[in-house]
Amino acid sequence: MTDDLRKNAIEVWANAYAPYSNFQVGAALRGVSGRIYVGCNVENVAYPEGTCAEAGAIAAMVATGETEFVEAYVISGNPLPVTPCGGCRQKMAEFGKADAMVTMGTMAGVEETMTLSELLPGAFGRAHMEH
Ligand code: THU
Repeated sequence: MTDDLRKNAIEVWANAYAPYSNFQVGAALRGVSGRIYVGCNVENVAYPEGTCAEAGAIAAMVATGETEFVEAYVISGNPLPVTPCGGCRQKMAEFGKADAMVTMGTMAGVEETMTLSELLPGAFGRAHMEH
């Protein structure tokens, strides 16, 4: 069930710092251990220095020593389920298997779930670095 992930993502969404885009995002990851990690977007007046919610959640997970998540939940205040940006898809692919589930949600409860490989087909991966 994604209920607990959704609850955590909504809680952290409220803390998102998005004064420039006014687009708050919350993300929650479930590590292989079962532990939940959260992150929100943190913007900056120097716009490209802002970071995405998914990046924050990944950093929180890795900081504890855990390096794999099995499930993710991402939410914004938009009526369309928020889809992770390209950079975040690559970041998630680093720490999740191809079949890891990513649920994109809205506050009204609309949800769309895709696997990491559906989100990032043909991902650049470790195999491409072997020579
Ligand atoms: N953003 C995220 O945090 N995650 C996403 O999946 C999509 C976009 C943030 C980046 C920026 O702070 C704001 O949303 C608008 O793009």
